[in-house]
Amino acid sequence: MSNEKLIRFSITIPEDLLKEFESSYYTENRENRSEAVRNLMRSYVSSERWKNNNREVFATITIVYDHHLPELTRKLTAAQHDNGDVIICSQHVHLNHETCLECIITKGLSEDIEKFIEALKDIRGIKSLNFNVSAEI
Ligand code: NI
Repeated sequence: MSNEKLIRFSITIPEDLLKEFESSYYTENRENRSEAVRNLMRSYVSSERWKNNNREVFATITIVYDHHLPELTRKLTAAQHDNGDVIICSQHVHLNHETCLECIITKGLSEDIEKFIEALKDIRGIKSLNFNVSAEI
């Protein structure tokens, strides 16, 4: 049992958001509301922590995009060449006629990987971009 000091605070959120939260995350995980919010906050803090200490990390970046969009594939290739020093490998899957999924495995200083992720975010037309910092070296 943790000796962490607990505090109580109040927040203001849309009613519909709370209902949806309670009917999905909170109920599925069979936790009380406080524990559910604590877990989400811990997860957020841990996902942001890697940026604050510039250490070597592994990160997996997954993007989904429409390869028919003008300029998108050219900019995507350019961003990968510009950041080639942190890319270990990438895997490309053609999901359907127009949609591609690319998974890029990176290793490097968090600052450099963050720079690469920001470059990807700047490319218009990417449908989704997710990343996961897998390990701190
Ligand atoms: Ni493709």
